[in-house]
Amino acid sequence: MDNKTKKRPNLLTLMDNAGWFKYFTVGAIVLSAASACLGLVPFVYIWKIVNEVLSVAPDFAKAENIEDYGFTAVKYAVNAMCVYFCALACSHLGAFRTVANIRERCVAKVLRMPLGHIETEGSGKIRKIIIDSTDAMSNYLEHILPDRTVGMVTPVAMIALLMYFDWRIGLLCIATIVVAFLIMYGFMVGPSLKRDILAYNVALENMTKEAVEYVRGIPVVKTFGQSVFSFKKLKAAIDTYERFSVSYTRRFRIPMTAYTVVINSFFAMLTAVALWHGSGAASPEFFSNLMFYIIFTPVIAVIFFKLMHSSEADMIVENSLLRINSVLDVEEMKDAENPQTPSDYSVEFQNVKFRYKDAARNALDGISLTIPSGGHVAFVGPSGGGKTTSASLVSRFWDVAEGRILIGGVDVRNIPQARLSEIVSFVFQDSKLMKTSILDNIKMAKPTATDAEVADVLQRAQCTDIINRLPDGVNTVIGSRGTYLSGGEQQRIAIARVMLRSAPILILDEATAFADPENEEKVLRAFNEMSKGKTVIKIAHRLSTVVDADAIFVFKDGRIVESGKHEDLVKQQGIYSRMWNEYQKSVEWKIEN
Ligand SMILES: Nc1ncnc2c1ncn2[C@@H]1O[C@H](COP(=O)(O)OP(=O)(O)OP(=O)(O)O)[C@@H](O)[C@H]1O
Ligand SMILES: [Mg+2]
Repeated sequence: MDNKTKKRPNLLTLMDNAGWFKYFTVGAIVLSAASACLGLVPFVYIWKIVNEVLSVAPDFAKAENIEDYGFTAVKYAVNAMCVYFCALACSHLGAFRTVANIRERCVAKVLRMPLGHIETEGSGKIRKIIIDSTDAMSNYLEHILPDRTVGMVTPVAMIALLMYFDWRIGLLCIATIVVAFLIMYGFMVGPSLKRDILAYNVALENMTKEAVEYVRGIPVVKTFGQSVFSFKKLKAAIDTYERFSVSYTRRFRIPMTAYTVVINSFFAMLTAVALWHGSGAASPEFFSNLMFYIIFTPVIAVIFFKLMHSSEADMIVENSLLRINSVLDVEEMKDAENPQTPSDYSVEFQNVKFRYKDAARNALDGISLTIPSGGHVAFVGPSGGGKTTSASLVSRFWDVAEGRILIGGVDVRNIPQARLSEIVSFVFQDSKLMKTSILDNIKMAKPTATDAEVADVLQRAQCTDIINRLPDGVNTVIGSRGTYLSGGEQQRIAIARVMLRSAPILILDEATAFADPENEEKVLRAFNEMSKGKTVIKIAHRLSTVVDADAIFVFKDGRIVESGKHEDLVKQQGIYSRMWNEYQKSVEWKIEN
């Protein structure tokens, strides 16, 4: 949102999303306004009744019009309710469409976001922003907007009525309203409240995030018995939230009390007026008018309460719009403007530089390497060296900041995204399986695959033992009836899935540790089976699996510090040979033990 130009009202911004359905929202406003005016008429009739009773007293039989007045009052009240009901129907119709359209835009946006952004932000958080913000918007359009219209139209009509009966008492009432109004806006509303609501929402979000992280981390916490330490971040988030909630609530204490006192002080004021007049020669007309004010003024407190409530909601809507914009403003992955077809499946990095958003230094700082079509290479090196980052740039999780990545001589940015996802497949370090059947999980890679094809890849990916063990074979739903797959087993299923897709370039991010050697052995065999005839980048944590690679690239601090075949690297006496020696020792240690 541009702050320099005059800001477009939130309501109009919301209505922009509704297409012609926005006229339902307009209709809701008009009908609520009409209902507000109708809703005041019964007070006039009640006053007429009181007036008539007073004028005929004590001979009440003479009061002939009371029944008529009563019915008319009820008629107007019922009409006001019916019109308000229609206003609500319209407001809901408008709101449904607005929210549906905004959600659609967000979902479309998520599909065009860089995959890396979704990974970093967490799909849960993005989902929460979309759902919560649009919920707040729909609540605003459905209920608060009609309420607010009533809240704004009523005071105007009210002032007319207040002045009509006795302008002096009217002025007194208006003065009281103005004071209450000043308290409400002067103390409560303003930029600092806006800031607080924003901070409050951020604190709430952080607390939710930390709570999820905490629950996720319970296994680690239990293993290492670090309850107090691990609790720190969650506790800090809760403390921050508490601080905001308390200060937020506290700032309302005095203004709210002052406001409530002032807005309810009509009675005291009217009583004083009555007493003062009563001591002089008061006209009956004055008292009948005073009756009107006594009947009417309690409504004022109710109406102002609604108005106050709605101004807070307005800020919540503004905040929701900002949050939705934070989703809609994410820079999109541009699809190929100049689509080209790769000549083969070689991969080339040309002086690639990349920096994560807000990071202090480049994650990749001038990577250049070439992998011939069908070549098998390995990325190794210390943690944080940039292996995963490099590999993820090939499948365009992010776009490079400088330099180029070519597949078959074509910049990956010039390969249409749908095509790129057919060419490059990624097996993640922590393979994510959906909570559906194994069959559906595998078919995600190729929905048209036959059951026979699925059975074939499962067998080649060394998954036969897993399937045989499961109660319903491939139809077993993961997570149901205590079905549990270990990390290695999940990775094998993920490999089967990638095999089905049969992409010519494979990226394998090896799981860092395997619990049992048998599983590791099977995963390796599945990897090798899948790698046949493909261009393969293997990010390896166990050096035994890279010995046969056509080339090994050693990553450190975002650069390639060594490269070549295993034997040559061992001879170089550099980082790789040190890593190799360490590895040998660990293997010996394992054997000895
Ligand atoms: N999503 C991210 N946001 C910000 N910085 C990141 C992100 N992912 C990685 N980094 C940083 O980029 C650098 C390279 O990380 P990368 O994950 O590529 O290393 P790696 O070689 O794969 O390490 P490992 O062997 O531990 O998997 C590190 O300094 C890391 O902190
Ligand atoms: Mg990594």
